[in-house]
Formats: sequence, structure tokens, C-alpha cells
Amino acid sequence: MSMESTSTCAHWKVDFDEHNIAWLHLDMADSKVNLLASTVLEELRGILDELAKDLPQAAIIYSGKKGSFIFGADINEFLEFDDISKSLPFISRGHEIMDKLESLACPTVSMINGMCLGGGMELSLACDYIVAADNSSTRLGLPEIKLGIHPGYGGTARSIQRCGPLPAMDIMLTGRALPARSAKKIGLIDECVPDRQLKQAAISFALQAPKRKSPPFVQRLLNNRILRPFIAQQMRKQVSRKARQAHYPAPYSLINLWQRHADNPKRMLREEAIAVANLATTDTARNLLRVFLLQDKLKNLGKQVAFKPSHVHVIGGGIMGGDIASWCAIQGYTVTVQDQDPSRLAQTFKRAQSSFKKKYKRDRRAITAAGDRLMPDHKGYGVSHADIIIEAIFEDADVKRTLYQDIEPRMKPDAILATNTSSIKLEDLSSSLNKPGRLVGLHFFNPVAMMPLVEIIRGNETDEDVVQKALAFGRSISKLPLPVKSSPGFLVNRILMPYLLEAVTMVGEGVPPEVIDKAATDFGMPMGPIELADTVGLDICKSVAEILSAALDMPLPENLNAMAAANKLGKKSGEGFYKYTKGKAQKNKAARFADVQKVQDRLVMRLLNEATACLREEIVESDELIDAGVIFGTGFAPFRGGPIHYIREAGKQELAERMNELRQEYGDRFESDTAWAGL
Ligand code: NAI
Repeated sequence: MSMESTSTCAHWKVDFDEHNIAWLHLDMADSKVNLLASTVLEELRGILDELAKDLPQAAIIYSGKKGSFIFGADINEFLEFDDISKSLPFISRGHEIMDKLESLACPTVSMINGMCLGGGMELSLACDYIVAADNSSTRLGLPEIKLGIHPGYGGTARSIQRCGPLPAMDIMLTGRALPARSAKKIGLIDECVPDRQLKQAAISFALQAPKRKSPPFVQRLLNNRILRPFIAQQMRKQVSRKARQAHYPAPYSLINLWQRHADNPKRMLREEAIAVANLATTDTARNLLRVFLLQDKLKNLGKQVAFKPSHVHVIGGGIMGGDIASWCAIQGYTVTVQDQDPSRLAQTFKRAQSSFKKKYKRDRRAITAAGDRLMPDHKGYGVSHADIIIEAIFEDADVKRTLYQDIEPRMKPDAILATNTSSIKLEDLSSSLNKPGRLVGLHFFNPVAMMPLVEIIRGNETDEDVVQKALAFGRSISKLPLPVKSSPGFLVNRILMPYLLEAVTMVGEGVPPEVIDKAATDFGMPMGPIELADTVGLDICKSVAEILSAALDMPLPENLNAMAAANKLGKKSGEGFYKYTKGKAQKNKAARFADVQKVQDRLVMRLLNEATACLREEIVESDELIDAGVIFGTGFAPFRGGPIHYIREAGKQELAERMNELRQEYGDRFESDTAWAGL
């Protein structure tokens, strides 16, 4: 029998079984996944009111979407939160509905199969019992911290009540999602069973309503008022290693919330709503939200065509080619790797094994399967079978052209040839091909497994269909594909290089590298420019800088030449601007400099100015894509929302004035780009 009120529901359906259990089935209309959008919550409110009037034996919530439960709130709705007068009523309404669910006077069960994140987890926590399927697609978590907020639908107090402060704070502060088994282990859920037993497990909780387990004694003790300040202090210390309060206030707000109110869950719920409503209006949260949406935008760029190659062939098994090949194997592709030097292939396979182990931990079957998908191919037999060939050989146009001439006759007629070149224009390479339109750039970043972006370089002659296929391929290997014009340095290296060179110039002037790096990390960069240059390798930096300096009139600092000539290449040679011990830069903690602000300004202004020049030259299609490329390609302070967004937010006029002061002191490299005024 279907419940009457659900006939008006777009997203929910309620059925009653022979035990008079109400089965609340969520299948969000016009959406691939379930989200706790306002309309979904409002319908749930109506259903809970109806159930309260005529109580069933129990209620079980489950999802109608295959492989997922609820992904969280509909974050597009957060875009409205420019003021607490908008965010607080929104959050409070969510609280009311969760409270209603919690106080329903019959047993309630959340039955989870698939992703259960954020608001979905909070809805489950408001139920009496949570059961989840023990399979690889089920993950549970409270990842709100990644968007600059913390759980806001009661998840803070309720997760702590369930599993105690340390495990609950850990999942909220890291935002990581747990497999069902780990969630059961920490007490976040009540049961984890194989798929086929899930329904039965939910029914048995619904009918038997066993007494809920409390967190272990030690965990309850840690919630004690006297101990909390000490533990909170430890948590702050740990968080501060990763995120500064000024840049990322949410984790600190969460720790304060716990420290102040953990012994009064009702008050904690009230205060949670206020804290989240405030956080949601901060620049950090709004920028992180923007970054999240930009990420979606890039993913969608790869959706125009369906391209799923059955065979990927990589030529060049060096640092990049080797890692690209093992990444593609992890993503499920059959991959052959060709290298003229068999010893490089041996290294590739050794590195690949350790990547597989890192990825699959102790899952031997998955490690073996990935290993089976990756095949050494010294002679290049894979060329004639592949749908996409990724070339990652030496950065030398002649060598690349010769290789293309050799392989093209053996390639499948519509196979794509993708080059990982970091600096050579595509037109200079495609001239050696009979079909120049099949060459596209697929520019990965180092280290391949860590960097989310891949630039898809469109040469003047690249076929549009080939660009679309490359975008689709980028998406299919879980990277964020960004279409970029074939122009020196493409987008990311072009914007990064003036910033790096300014840093190297300052070292030449006597500014300690430690001060320069700290100025950059204080701004929010993940790593300082000097350490970055050392990590990439000063020889590679120099060769990219040479190409860019010729094209963009950007002089090379003398000290960079000198370092490369002295074979001080950075981390890989044990010494660059820093000395390295066991791969770690030896920094002088006592290093000081008089005008640190100016150091930061010099770095940041060069980067912002180059981003503006790229906008003028239409290196990518929009200002949003510049921001996306710089954030995902360099790690540019995500809480600042990207360089172009930052110029607008910080005030283009003030920044232009600062540029002008720097220009008077340091010369024309600080001349504002003409596009600056139009921002
Ligand atoms: P690498 O020197 O580590 O590897 C190049 C490999 O290509 C070597 O193993 C070499 O034996 C092989 N090779 C050279 N000519 C060959 C041929 N004709 N046939 C078969 N194998 C051949 O170089 P790396 O750093 O991996 O760079 C490769 C490409 O990736 C270059 O175009 C570079 O600009 C680009 N790139 C490099 C990045 C980096 O951080 N190293 C970042 C992004 C792109």
C-alpha cells in the first residue's frame, strides 16, 4: 500500500509492508544521484508529519539510485549565502527536519548501499540505527570541511554521541570517507553486512529495536569537561600543521564547538547551526564552493563525446611516461609502454608496482590485475593496436618528429596521437605527420598520480573531434581536462614561470630562499617557489624558462643558469637552492628579511599579471577556466578562488597601484597587462 501523501511527492515514495514498516524510498527526480536539496527535505518533512499522525511499526529509509545513497546537500543552493540572514534560516530548517526524524516515536533505520556523504550521513545519524552494505561502492563520511564549513544538519553532535569524540572529530576534520567496515569499527554505523543481507538486517533492527551501544568508556571519558581543553588544544595543533585559521576557519570552529558544548548535545546542535551559518558566508567557504563547481565544470567538458579506447600505448617510459602508463592501468585501461632503453622499462615497472601497492593496499588481486593490464613493449608492437598513443619522450622537437614519422604508418586510421610536451608548440611537431589533425597535446603534471589537471592542447591543425576525444579520455582517467590553446608554456607553466623567476631573482639579490617560500605559503600556496623549482629540477625549469623567455620577453636570472651549469639541479642531485638530506630540504629556520610583504607582493603580482595576459590572449575560453587551471595545476590557494577571482575580490584598483609601485622600483616586468583594467 502506498502512502497517500507521497502521491504528491516528486522524490519520495512510501510503502508499507506486512509488518507495517514504512519504507521511505528516495529517488530524486531529474538527477542521477540523490541530494538533500530543499525540495527533497520539504517532502520528507511532510512524510514525517504523516507518519507521526499514524505511527507505523518502524520506518526504513533507503535509496532508489543504483550504487549511491545520498551524496549530500545540493551545494548550488549555498551560492545564495552571502549573509547570515540567508544561511541561518536555511540551516535551521534542515535542523528541524532532522529533529523530526530523530523524535519520530518508532524505530527508524537508515539502510545504505553506496555513497553516503555529508547531509546523507547526517540524515542517517538522525535515525536510530544505521546499516550499510559491505561493498566497494559504499563509503560514508562528513566531508563538509573541504567546502570550508563543517556538518550543519546535526552531524557534529550526533556523530560524537555515536562514536565518541576522537573518531568523530577525526572524520569531520579530515573529511575522509570510510568503507562500511571501518565505519562499523568506529561505531559510526550499527551493522555492515553483504548486499544480499542488507534488507534483512534493516528489518531486524526495525522490528527488534535493540538497545543502542554507547561509545567505549575511554571515548566517553574524553568528552569530559575537564579533559576537553587539553584535547582540543592538541587537535588545534594538528590542524594548524595543515591549515591556518586565517585561511581555513572551519576546523577551528568545529573544535571550539566541541570544546564548549560537547556535554550538552541539544545546545551543541543549536550552536552548530549558528557556527555553520556563519562559516557558509565567509570568503573561504564561498571560494571553496566556487572551486568545487569549477571542478564539475571541467569534468563536464569531457562529456561531449563518448571515447573509451580499448588500448592505450605510451611511448617513453621515463618519469612522465612511466607514471602516465601506470595511472592509465589503475584506471582500468590495457596499456603497453615502449621505450628505446629496456632499463627504463624495468624502472617503470618497478615504480608501477609500488603505485599499485599504494593504491590497492593489501588487495593482492587488484594489484595483480593492474599489473596484468600494463605490458612492457620495447619494440612498440602496441602502436598498431592502440586507439590513443601518448608520446612522452625527450623534449626535443626533432626526436619527436622522427618518432612520429616512424609510427604513423602503423597507427590505426583514426587513432589519436597525444604528446605530453611541456613546451614545444604543436604546429612544430604535427608538420611531420600525414594527418596533422590527429595530434593533440595531453599535458600531464608531475607527479602524475597527485596532480588533478591535464591540459588538452589544441594546435592550429588539431581536428575538433580529436580535441573532444582527448577531453573525454582525460575525464575517463579521473583527471580534470582543460582545453588550452597551443601557445608557449600553455596555461599553467606560463603563469607559474614569472612567479618562479621572480623568486629566483630575489635569491640572486640576497633574499633567503626560506623567506621567499614562507611568503608564498603564507599567501596560501601549497609549496614555496624555490622548493618547487628544486623539486621539478633546475635543468627542467631552465629549459621551460628558456622557451618562455624567448617567446614572452622574460629574461632568465643569471643564478638559474649558474646553478644548472654547476649541476646543482635541486632535489634529484642533492643540492639546488637548498641542500637535501634524505629528500628533505634543509631550511634555515632563523632566516629573516626586512620587508616580507614586498617579497610576497613581488611573487603574487607576477603571477596575477601573467594570468591577466592569458585572459587577453584567450589561452583558455574564459576567466573561470584560468582560475580552474591555476588552482588544479599549481595548487594556487583554493580558498582565494583563483587568480582572476582574487584580483576582483581584493580590488583591481589597489592591486594595480601596488603593481605600479613595484614597476617604479623593479622595472617593466611589473607593468600591468592591458587586460587588467577590463576585469
Ligand atoms: P625522461 O627523460 O625521464 O624520459 C624520456 C624517456 O623517453 C626515456 O626513458 C627515453 O629512453 C625515452 N625515449 C627517448 N626517445 C625515445 C624514442 N625515440 N623512442 C622510445 N623511447 C624514447 O623525460 P620526462 O621528464 O619523462 O619527459 C618526457 C616528456 O614529458 C617531455 O616531453 C617533457 O617535456 C614532458 N613533461 C615533463 C614533465 C616533468 O616534470 N618531467 C612535466 C610535464 C611534461
